[in-house]
Amino acid sequence: MRAALAPQGRRPAGARGVRWEAGRGRLVGARCASAVAEKTAGEEEEAAGEKFEYQAEVSRLMDLIVHSLYSHKEVFLRELVSNASDALDKLRFLSVTDPSVLADGGDMEIRIKPDPDAGTITITDSGIGMTKDELKDCLGTIAQSGTSKFLKALKENKELGADNGLIGQFGVGFYSAFLVAEKVVVSTKSPKTDKQYIWEAEANSSSYVIREETDPEKMLTRGTQITLFLREDDKYEFADPTRIQGLVKNYSQFVSFPIFTWQEKSRTVEVGF
Ligand SMILES: Nc1ncnc2c1ncn2[C@@H]1O[C@H](COP(=O)(O)OP(=O)(O)OP(=O)(O)O)[C@@H](O)[C@H]1O
Ligand SMILES: [Mg+2]
Repeated sequence: MRAALAPQGRRPAGARGVRWEAGRGRLVGARCASAVAEKTAGEEEEAAGEKFEYQAEVSRLMDLIVHSLYSHKEVFLRELVSNASDALDKLRFLSVTDPSVLADGGDMEIRIKPDPDAGTITITDSGIGMTKDELKDCLGTIAQSGTSKFLKALKENKELGADNGLIGQFGVGFYSAFLVAEKVVVSTKSPKTDKQYIWEAEANSSSYVIREETDPEKMLTRGTQITLFLREDDKYEFADPTRIQGLVKNYSQFVSFPIFTWQEKSRTVEVGF
């Protein structure tokens, strides 16, 4: 079956000459309590950004992930799609009591754009987004189920290290992006604040930077955009639209929101939804 499913609503910049394929399915996911907690955006941002150190456990985890020889690196996409789905689920849940959170943020969807020329892959959702405090709480500490279970299992299997399948078994959540990326940039907009924030980190660093997004072309109405600058060795595989399309097909059945994946126009892609 050829699914020439036309995208609904917004089309991100640079989408000319390409098309998006969609899939739909059921929902699975997890929650980070701090993302739904009441918090204010915090103080003024410096233009250059503010530097933060990871919690010690995160640094250790990052080190393991970056130097891991784990062979199923593609799990990063499953984790990021699951987070995007969770973010959309949280937004949908909040909108029941407060429809204003939807604002004019467009459809509830996930877009994935592998860019072979740039060596990047970008995952965008129109979900709940994160405030500056939530960025620090959620992407600088370990409070999440899968990731803390991974560290616990690792302690119990010390001699085995991170390469024996524990990463895939327990999941390392957001941090799995660093299985394939040398740099990760997260740009996010929560309905709780007018400001949009960027979280940026390099794979071999114990710190990350948060700054306010000021580029008018990069403004999101709502949600989160995660760009992975792929490692030299992983560019070929994970910036390849056909490879990504194949992976997304597997995950989309567990996600209750449409997932659009970018394809070059000249290529014909069969999608079996
Ligand atoms: N796309 C996103 N939109 C909004 N918040 C996000 C997004 N991605 C991550 N987060 C926040 O970062 C937190 C950490 O994500 P991470 O995947 O590491 O853990 P988790 O999803 O809570 O648990 P799990 O171990 O099951 O993946 C999430 O709980 C969420 O609050
Ligand atoms: Mg997750």
